[in-house]
Amino acid sequence: EAAQKQGFDWYMRKEIFEQPTAVADTLLGRLNDRGELVLDELRISPETLRRINKVVIVACGTSFYAGLVAKYAIEHWTRIPCEVELASEFRYRDPIVDPMTLVVTISQSGETADTLMAIRHAREQHAKVVAICNTNGATIPRESDAVIYTHAGPEIGVASTKGFTTQLVACYLLGLYLAQVRGMKYGDEIAALLGELERMPAAIQGLLDNSQPVLDLAAELADATSVLFLGRHVGYPVALEGALKLKELAYIHAEGFAAGELKHGPIALVSDELPVFVIVPPRGRDQLRDKVISNIAEVRARGARTIVLAEAGDEEARAVASNFIELPKVSTLLQPLLAVVPLQLFACELATVKGHDVDQPRNLAKSVTVE
Ligand code: G6P
Repeated sequence: EAAQKQGFDWYMRKEIFEQPTAVADTLLGRLNDRGELVLDELRISPETLRRINKVVIVACGTSFYAGLVAKYAIEHWTRIPCEVELASEFRYRDPIVDPMTLVVTISQSGETADTLMAIRHAREQHAKVVAICNTNGATIPRESDAVIYTHAGPEIGVASTKGFTTQLVACYLLGLYLAQVRGMKYGDEIAALLGELERMPAAIQGLLDNSQPVLDLAAELADATSVLFLGRHVGYPVALEGALKLKELAYIHAEGFAAGELKHGPIALVSDELPVFVIVPPRGRDQLRDKVISNIAEVRARGARTIVLAEAGDEEARAVASNFIELPKVSTLLQPLLAVVPLQLFACELATVKGHDVDQPRNLAKSVTVE
């Protein structure tokens, strides 16, 4: 087993460090020399994809958060309305899906019972189902009309890491492909984003190479009893995922909130020294960024310890940070691919410091195959 962990203490840490390769492998063969997207495996005809009038994403756990990010990207690039729903809720509420609906399921294992039931239900209504999956030949891809595989390689740690980042990549590819086949007027933007996606493995590697401050912070905060995570736009699902990782691994109470909701409740939780992680959108989305920075100032004024993840060189964000975690420059919609990495490392390290079994957290299973 030690050999399989290749010198890492946990599979999870190894898998976090495999993300540059996993992301590169998921992009491999999907961009041609002209910078266009090829998704041959998406065996649903372009005509059908042009007729789709709604996208519904269903998933559980971390995969659901990848779906929340996908909604922002798909709606922005394709202008097709996109809903995201927990598979366990979707199935039992008589959802409206029909042959014009593209149902996208996201599942690392391809065996999650609720997700499987959701797609069976969707197919009974004659919706087209695309699975985003990491496991070749698993039940969910077998029962779907088409599959986009994430090529993360086997994920052993119960808490998903490279599974999540490669799911994000697959969601971006699907969104950009839909925009491409539907002839959206974002030609330049699509090409630029594809180029940017190709630079993501190196950007993630840069974060991993400079992760010592995050590890030190985890050791420092080992006695925290509660941690908040705030974000807006695609930073909101990242906040949810950061909180989930901490719950799963460190057994610490952690909540992710949309930063704009602060005044509607969460700010009542803020007290002296409460650690609050905040994901700041890149510069360029200045309206949004300004709002997040003032949210940080608000919690800081109430004594919170602010751990701010923002673009390198963002001095306004740094000014309100107790701890500043620099992220490489990236387009807003792609930022989750980078912002999640320090949060994964933080949770992994904090659980390690507390002496927990990071790969097999109590009460959790890698794949939940019962409803
Ligand atoms: C379990 C795992 C999570 C995973 C979720 C969904 O809860 O512990 O890491 O995100 O299932 O699994 P799936 O295989 O469908 O992505």
